This record gives sequence, structure tokens and C-alpha cells, in this order.
Amino acid sequence: MANLIHSQVDLHKDFGGVVPELAARDHLERLPHLLDLAFKGAGVAANDVDLIAVTRGPGLAGCLLVGVGVAEGLSASWSVPVTGVNHLWGHIYAAMLSRPDLEPPLLGLVVSGAHSDLVSMPEHGRFEVIGRTRDDAAGEAFDKAARMLGLGYPGGPALDRLARTGDASRQPLPKPSLPGLEYSFSGLKTALLYRLRDLGESVTPQDKADLAASFERSVVESLLEKLHLALEATPTAEVVVCGGVAANTLLRERAAEVVGSRARLTMPPLDLCTDNAAMIAAAGYFSSPPRGEAEPAPIEVNPSLGWDS
Ligand code: KG4
Ligand code: ZN
Repeated sequence: MANLIHSQVDLHKDFGGVVPELAARDHLERLPHLLDLAFKGAGVAANDVDLIAVTRGPGLAGCLLVGVGVAEGLSASWSVPVTGVNHLWGHIYAAMLSRPDLEPPLLGLVVSGAHSDLVSMPEHGRFEVIGRTRDDAAGEAFDKAARMLGLGYPGGPALDRLARTGDASRQPLPKPSLPGLEYSFSGLKTALLYRLRDLGESVTPQDKADLAASFERSVVESLLEKLHLALEATPTAEVVVCGGVAANTLLRERAAEVVGSRARLTMPPLDLCTDNAAMIAAAGYFSSPPRGEAEPAPIEVNPSLGWDS
């Protein structure tokens, strides 16, 4: 009914990345006003709320604590139950917002700033990791490559835009390939670094666009190669590709081609791929314990939470 984001890009961009302390303080300052705006936008009041869902991890400890503190405060003052949600589950549940008839079992590729995970979801609230990265996550690799290319912060979307004007075949980079369902992006990152070093001062804007296109192609083809393998090994009717990196133009195009007619592919719209509150509401709605069986308070914040709970 309402899905609002207060972007912190301006707050962090001079630092070239997220400053945890500033992020947490800004959450505290912005959340109450955002809540007011959300209620106004949705045309509802506090007594229309049945359940409060809040991210309990993974993420930055300070930000998680602010969110959980606000949620528990609201829960106490409104006498409404509150449930702690796994951020990673949220990315998968974003797909169910855009496709209400989507049901597990499904195969998910979750690609964000900190994760590149292939997961099998047999039923609501159950996830099994079948593939992951050995080093950098896909989003992290895009952000670092963008920085090397002088694109600033946030890097992923800027690299995507630049890649649209480049030609990958003019600056080929290796496609990472590990056995099984494992990813690795650190070698590719080093390959880009060396190529830029070799080009030195003579690097042109077109070279940079070609390198952006090539880097993007290597990451995307590697992500989809493992998705293809997972789908071959365990045919599944529903495939979800989600997380911030699923906003990438080439990944969206190529995922549709790679999955083809083997399964139905759901990629949330761009604003539900990158972090948002609606996906946390959806995850809370589908996976919280039945009403009446209140969760033990207080909610346990876990900055390094995995997929299991
Ligand atoms: O899921 P998300 O919003 O936050 C995390 O949970 O990490 O993902 C953020 C990541 C960042 O690394 C960002 O650069 C990347 O997603 N990203 C993109 C694009 N949009 C966001 N990467 C490539 N192309 C994009 N269009
Ligand atoms: Zn995320």
C-alpha cells in the first residue's frame, strides 16, 4: 500500500561507501517521519496494522538495532505483534509481491552487495543454500569495478549505465569458472585492475565503457551458468532472480534467455530488487509464526545471520 525509501546515497557518497555510524544515526532521524508518510500514503492508521515486520539481520549492527528498537516500541504502544525478519528471505519474498500466485518450491538466485547465493526453497520459511561465492559478492564486485573505472558511489547502477555504451568484445575479460555451484569474482577484479594498469594514461572513455561492458558480461554469464547447472540438476517450475544486482540490465535480459521455457522466471521490478521495506513486510507476512504465538521478545539482532532462520 505504501513502500517508501529514504535514500542515504547523498549522505555517504563523499566517503565512497557506507559509513556505518552515519547510516545508523540517519535511520533514527528518518524512521519516524517515514512512518508518518507511509500511513498518509496508504490511507490507514495504526489500528489497521495486524503485524509489524522488521529486519533482524544480516546487516549493519547499528542500523538493525535502530530498526528493531523502533519496531518494538511501536509494538508495545499499539499492542500489535512484531516479527523479526531475515533480510535475505526478504529478497525472495519481493518476488511474491510482484507475482502473487508464486509459491514454493522454487529455485532462487539472490545477488546483492554482500551475497551471491543459489538457494532452494522447498516451502515457506525454509531455505537451503546450494551455491555461494568463495570471495566477493556480485554487487561488491560491481561496486569495486566501478570504483576502479572512476564511477564513484553507488557503483553498480553507474557501471550498468556505462556498459550500455560499451562493446564487451573489444576488451575481453575472463569469465570466472569454478567447479560445481561456487562463484568467485576476485580474479576477474584483478584482471580488470591489470588491464587498466596496462592501458595507463592512454585509457579513453570508450575503453572504460568497453571494460564496463566486459566486466558486466563476465559477472552475468558466471551467475547464470550456475543457475543453469542448478536447474539441470534439479528441475524446478519456478525460478526467482532477485537482490540489488537483479536490477542490472544485462542480467535481466540474459536470465530470461537462460531459463527459457524450462521454468517460469520471476524478477521483481527494479524498486523491489534493491533494498526496500515492502519485501520485509512480505517476508513477515508469509513466514512469521501463526498469530497468537507471539515471538519471544526481544527480537535477536544478528548482523551476520545466514539463511537458516
Ligand atoms: O540488495 P541490495 O540493494 O543491498 C544489499 O542487501 O546488499 O544490493 C545492493 C547491490 C550494490 O552492490 C549495488 O551496486 C548493486 O546491488 N546494484 C547493481 C545495480 N543496481 C544495484 N549492480 C549492477 N547493476 C545494477 N543496475
Ligand atoms: Zn539487500
